[in-house]
This record gives sequence, C-alpha cells and structure tokens, in this order.
Amino acid sequence: MSQSPVSPPSAIRLVVLISGNGSNLQAIIDEIKNNNLPAQIVAVISNKADAYGLERAKKAGIEQQVLSYNDFDDREQYDLQLKNIIDAYQPDLIILAGFMRILSNDFVQYFSHKMMNIHPSLLPKYKGLNTHQRALDAGDKEHGCSVHFVTPELDDGPVILQATVPVKKDDTEESLAARVHEQEYRIYPEAIRLFAENKINN
Ligand code: GRF
Repeated sequence: MSQSPVSPPSAIRLVVLISGNGSNLQAIIDEIKNNNLPAQIVAVISNKADAYGLERAKKAGIEQQVLSYNDFDDREQYDLQLKNIIDAYQPDLIILAGFMRILSNDFVQYFSHKMMNIHPSLLPKYKGLNTHQRALDAGDKEHGCSVHFVTPELDDGPVILQATVPVKKDDTEESLAARVHEQEYRIYPEAIRLFAENKINN
C-alpha cells in the first residue's frame, strides 16, 4: 500500500539510508501511514542492491536508489555522490536505519544536526557491533537502544531518546535482540516526531 499522497502541510521530508532488512524503515512507514508522524519519506537509499528494505520501500510507493560502494574508488568519492543524491531530495532529516557504512567527517559535518541513527545499546555503552552479545557477556541486568544525532565519532553523537529492556536469565542474543527491536520501532518514530515538532534542543 502507498503512503497517503497528501501529507500534512507541516510534514518533514525524510531520506532513509539502509543496508539490510529495513524493519526500522517499516516502523517509520507504518507510523506515517497511521497518521502518527508528520513526515514523508521522499527516498530510501541502500548501499546493497539486495537489501530487503528496498522491497518494503517499493511496496509503500517510495522512491528507491542503490549506491554501491563497488562503483567507487574511495570513501570520499562515494560520500560525495551520496551527498549529491540526498541533496537532490531536499530532505529536512536523514535517517540512518541499519546503514552499515562508516561515513566520512565531511559528510557527517555537512548534515550536522540533520542526521539521526539508531544504535542497539544504551549509549555510551557498547558502541560498534555485537551489542547484544556484549551486554549478555557483561552480565548486564538492563540493555536497550538509543537514537542519537550523528557526529564524526562512531555511535557518539548527542542522544535524543533511549529505551531500556530487562535482560532475562535465559536470554540468547536473538531473544534479547528481539526485545530491543520492539523498542527501536517505538523510539525511532518518536524521535523523528520530536524533530518534526521542533522539540529537540540541539
Ligand atoms: C537495528 O538493530 C539498529 O539498531 C541497527 O541496525 C539494525 C537495523 O535493523 N543500527 P533493520 O534493518 O532496521 O531491521
């Protein structure tokens, strides 16, 4: 089903960057469709041609683009092209939703305070990968996820929203990840809503 063609006048324009499944993208699509989020997704861009999130975008009637790193000699050229593609859509906000590429400083600074990421840990804990297993290995009683503005340091920008989940005795990496994902689907649209309503102090 397509997004409603008529967006509220205050709807902000989102470009969403993905690399894979796109379940966070789906949560944002659903919130917009249910009129819970004053936003429209003007494009979904993936660095992987086989990302399932592209299917989700297609089903929702959203423009999709693939920008493969293999077509570029270095990160700077890739990021420059990515920046040009994004700029053409004139977004108010760029959403990293499982986009598995490190972005160059120039790119990040160009979109300063206009680019959000969701990270599956209670930042500043567990930056980087394998966050669920690391929380289990550490014996943490609580784990969670964070939405933050993107800054040049990986997973380091100002936190906008966090959600906490309990870690259960019999949790596996998968069961814990599933519990965190449920919260991601709640707080990412919420963070975008706060941005759209100008309620985030930068
Ligand atoms: C999520 O766990 C998110 O926290 C991390 O990448 C994953 C993306 O999942 N940044 P999906 O592609 O949205 O399903």
